[in-house]
Amino acid sequence: MKSIPEEFQITELIEQKKYLVNGELKAWSGNTTEVFSSISSTEAYKPTLLGSIPDMGEPEAMAALDGALAAYGKGQGVWPTMHVKDRIECMENFVRKMETKRNEVVKLLMWEIGKSLPDSQKEFDRTVEYIYDTIEEYKELDRNSAKFQKHDGVYAHIKRGPLGVVLCLGPYNYPLNETFALLIPAIIMGNTTIFKPAKHGVLLITPLLEAFQSCFPKGVVNILFGRGRAVAAPIMQTGKVDVLALIGNSKSANALQEQHPKSNRLRLVLGLEAKNPAIILPDADLDLTIDECIAGTLSFNGQRCTALKVIYVHEQVRDEFMKRFTKRVDSLKFGNPWDDGVKLTPLPEPGKPAYIQELIDDALEKGAKVKNKKGGQHFDNYIWPAVLYPVNKEMRVYQEEQFGPIIPVVSFSDIEEPLNDMAESNYGQQVSLFGKDVYTLSPLIDTLVNLVCRVNLNSSCQRGPDVYPFTGRKDSAQATLSVHDALRSFSIRTFVAFKDNELNNETIQQLLEAKLSNFVSTDYIL
Ligand code: G3H
Repeated sequence: MKSIPEEFQITELIEQKKYLVNGELKAWSGNTTEVFSSISSTEAYKPTLLGSIPDMGEPEAMAALDGALAAYGKGQGVWPTMHVKDRIECMENFVRKMETKRNEVVKLLMWEIGKSLPDSQKEFDRTVEYIYDTIEEYKELDRNSAKFQKHDGVYAHIKRGPLGVVLCLGPYNYPLNETFALLIPAIIMGNTTIFKPAKHGVLLITPLLEAFQSCFPKGVVNILFGRGRAVAAPIMQTGKVDVLALIGNSKSANALQEQHPKSNRLRLVLGLEAKNPAIILPDADLDLTIDECIAGTLSFNGQRCTALKVIYVHEQVRDEFMKRFTKRVDSLKFGNPWDDGVKLTPLPEPGKPAYIQELIDDALEKGAKVKNKKGGQHFDNYIWPAVLYPVNKEMRVYQEEQFGPIIPVVSFSDIEEPLNDMAESNYGQQVSLFGKDVYTLSPLIDTLVNLVCRVNLNSSCQRGPDVYPFTGRKDSAQATLSVHDALRSFSIRTFVAFKDNELNNETIQQLLEAKLSNFVSTDYIL
């Protein structure tokens, strides 16, 4: 084992004993859960202890909910009624404080979820950029609504207002970015929030607790630790949550949603699982296709909802593709996140290699073969990506979202085959289409845009750039996220209307001049 660079060594444990409820960083004295990294610090393999987090339950969950409800104050709270420019100022203070924590967060991203150093840095920087972009977008939104409309003798001053209390749960693969892509727009639009970090990637939130506490009015952000079942379920059961914002899988989303007694009152902002296919046509540029398929299937070991999770290759180019693709998979570098040029890194979930092995065994039993030499090799915290071919619909690896290093390949002769499979699939997030001939591509594109929500031409699937809409059909998503769309997903159109008469016109004139209302305002935020 190569030695760990000094700046990344774990020198002291993070015993997280504080949590944020109603503006107070409260001390926790109850049970705790140890947090381990699947990365070893010693020559003989042993998971590394990183620290511990509170194991909270219903009383703390209720205290957080009460905090969020009080801060919303039935719409009268300081935060939901605050002038947009003041809310923006709080967010600017927050992001500035957050930026000072880059090294701590990046180091924990590597240890907690095994993300490579460049990707961990990218996750942090991308999140900071997302916050700045959100601020700019909100200013723009506010500027566009700083006016009155008049139709049929009725004036309207239309803006977007908050929805209420948002329960926010993020995934372990982007514990910072994806979670904040929900939390930040929810907060800035005037909602109050309760946030529970993901199962892995939880300690990395702790350096930001003080910034959340000091930058926002009390109760606007409440942060809990513990198991979803223990803290999120009781919150939902009260029926007092207005928005469930979750990036994860549909099972957890459905389970939580069902706890809410009045489902019609619950808005859902969900980014769920996917099984994005790559479709390789006979005239595809294979060099580029292989590069994109490597990135698409194996960036962060395939632990991305946007990862390519099944490859359909036309039989005319199948052999050539397989020969070159399998070689490339086996030439990737495996190592710890801080190792130079590393592409494959330890899996944070201890049970993942065994799960991937189950998928391999099942596929082999049903007629597939592992086509790359290293495929399925076990390490203490890893299993080498297996390229499986030929894969059929009976196999678990075809049906399940593997979310890990394993690549099923299906060959086809008629394009209707992948199209039919996609139409039957439970998922509908994205597709990658590789080919050149416009006469073939045109009808395909026209069909694929109706089966998924993003068709990537000669490019791997991905969420970014974050200004583009991120959504999906069927079990893959509900609502749309992007810098622009998230502000809409976490708010509702609400307005002041008045008939055009002397009394109303004068009253509104006075309201504007007095600058007492934070809502009725035509001020431009620059
Ligand atoms: O887990 C799913 C993420 O949204 C993927 O984002 O495509 O930027 O890796 P990404």
